[in-house]
Amino acid sequence: MVAQDSVQVVAGSVQWQPGSGPAWNMSNDWLRDNCRCAACRHPGNGQKLYEIVDLPDDLRATAAAVLPDGGLQVRWSDGHVSDYAAAWLQDHALSEDARRSRRAHPTLWTGALGAQLPVADWPALLAEPALELAWLEQYAALGFGLLRKVPTEPGQVAQVGDRLGFVRVTNYGRLFDVKSVPNPTNLAYTAVGLGVHSDNPYRHPSPGVQLLHCLESEAPGGDTLLVDGFHAAEILRREDPAGFDLLRRVPMNFRYADAGTELRARQTLISTDVDGVVRAVHFNNRSADWLDAPAELAQAWYAAYRAFARILKRPELELIFRLAPGDCVVMQNDRTLHGRTAFDPGRGRRHLQGCYIDGDAMESRRLVLRRSART
Ligand SMILES: [Fe+2]
Ligand SMILES: [Zn+2]
Repeated sequence: MVAQDSVQVVAGSVQWQPGSGPAWNMSNDWLRDNCRCAACRHPGNGQKLYEIVDLPDDLRATAAAVLPDGGLQVRWSDGHVSDYAAAWLQDHALSEDARRSRRAHPTLWTGALGAQLPVADWPALLAEPALELAWLEQYAALGFGLLRKVPTEPGQVAQVGDRLGFVRVTNYGRLFDVKSVPNPTNLAYTAVGLGVHSDNPYRHPSPGVQLLHCLESEAPGGDTLLVDGFHAAEILRREDPAGFDLLRRVPMNFRYADAGTELRARQTLISTDVDGVVRAVHFNNRSADWLDAPAELAQAWYAAYRAFARILKRPELELIFRLAPGDCVVMQNDRTLHGRTAFDPGRGRRHLQGCYIDGDAMESRRLVLRRSART
């Protein structure tokens, strides 16, 4: 026998018992604010037509019934009547299981990912929406992706940026050069490696996505080094929960200054949402400024900072690969930290160009492609 949905109004809330799954208490304000009737939401664009202060403070449900199609009908104390489709109720359930299943589930990775880099050829991606969607899904899960066969012409990185999103112009311009040319008078000089970091944590907001396009890579070394900041944060949470908690609660200052620029931002190294899920990691040794926090927290905060920095240096977390001319790595700047191995600028040219875009446009593109793949 199939269990029937049932519903009743009990002091202060509507109790909904779906035929399968746990019962669920829907608070009056929450339920009413989700009314999709034509008086509450514009039928064309779905935008809300009232303000929250327009709802009575003492609003309550007076009656509720299961509709023949499995939906729910609620009558309200102000005379309004709301219908909720069964599918809507299912998609918006607030049970812990339902909320967990709706969350993004990043695929945490280590250096072992090396064999399965999320790669696509740029010309093919431009021509084939299914390929673009597959690449964007990998980008969303892993926090980075690699594009190959991007024409090796200066400025191309901004073209890619404007196709994936919108290039964000900063005080460095629309794009920036990371360039090293052999210098015969300085053959002994070896360009040092660069520890992993997120770019520009001294901005509000920090860049969402960084692109780095390789134009030349003759110099030995200078390989790209990536670390999954979300994975590192989860390791810290497991090994040092108190330290993890300090880094997500207590922000530090970041700063960049030159003759014409003074950029300052205050960020936590680890950001979590209301469910404790890691949403962002910002880490940059060069632009770290100072900790402006209650004095009694400083010693413990520094211990946590050091512990996190050590995790980010664990060799097993480091994904190392070489960018060849035409390769463009696209990184979620607040998750995938990047650096480079040392290289010998005396033995060849090395030239990368980079730019920043916001993350929302890429995410929108992924959701739109998903939507059209379904229809
Ligand atoms: Fe960087
Ligand atoms: Zn309504």
